Amino acid sequence: MNSPLSNTPKLWLGNGSRFDEMQMLKSKRPIVVVDSGVGGLTVVRELEKLIPNANILYLADNAWFPYGSKTGADVVQRVEKLLDGLCTKVEPEAIVVACNTASVAIVDHGAENLRHKCFLVTPQINEAVDASKTKCIAFLATAGTLKSNHVIQSIARSRVNAAVWPIATQTLVTLAEEMLAGGEVSFEDFEELICLYLTEEQRLSIDTVVLGCTHFPLLIDGLRRVFPAADNWIHSARKVALQVVASTDITSDSIDEVSKVATYTRESDAVKYHQVFSMNGFC
Ligand code: DGL
Repeated sequence: MNSPLSNTPKLWLGNGSRFDEMQMLKSKRPIVVVDSGVGGLTVVRELEKLIPNANILYLADNAWFPYGSKTGADVVQRVEKLLDGLCTKVEPEAIVVACNTASVAIVDHGAENLRHKCFLVTPQINEAVDASKTKCIAFLATAGTLKSNHVIQSIARSRVNAAVWPIATQTLVTLAEEMLAGGEVSFEDFEELICLYLTEEQRLSIDTVVLGCTHFPLLIDGLRRVFPAADNWIHSARKVALQVVASTDITSDSIDEVSKVATYTRESDAVKYHQVFSMNGFC
């Protein structure tokens, strides 16, 4: 029997039609940005600061959201299938896996073994240790990210120089999705979770927070109340945007007509999901 992972997922546009109709994108060589949901928008924002007129094709794998509760091997297989399907329709200028959970799973798997060359976002633990004065660091990420061998080894190495507290949270991923959709969000559940991981004294000693999920930079305002002494909020969006710019031919004046298209893997809520993307300039 075929597993769901053996099929190439279909892609839908925000108006509910199939992505196949968007043949015009073939010639536009977009930067493809992939995430399970809205988190990749934090990477899009950094890309747009550097290349304001970049063509961007966003792929939100909402049918498989959240990635954080899946196994790394399944996430790698899923992302590879998505990209197989997409690359029959478009020729990307660059592909960014704008999801820490998928990126670290790809690193574990061996990025060179992936059928597509991708830019990856991985948690910046070394940067956090360098930035921290108190050497007390909270590392927020999905459970999937914290199970990655690459991440486990990075944490072990950083512990020579700092106290690093990994905190697995899927709650924050959901909060970020709700917040961008215009909902009221409460950090109460997250605060309760933090009490299980940290004493009050530890929480107040943290001056650096690693945002190890692309959804989390959307929540910095709320997180400031949870970690009141933190002044370093470390994430990878800027770094990966700079890597894309450095290794492609795109310059801020090399594209005439800008095209920002968002696609989704679940047809039934593509139109609803698209409200968030249209507020961010996507059609
Ligand atoms: N933005 C993804 C990440 O960076 C979301 C995780 C999820 O879907 O659980 O990890």
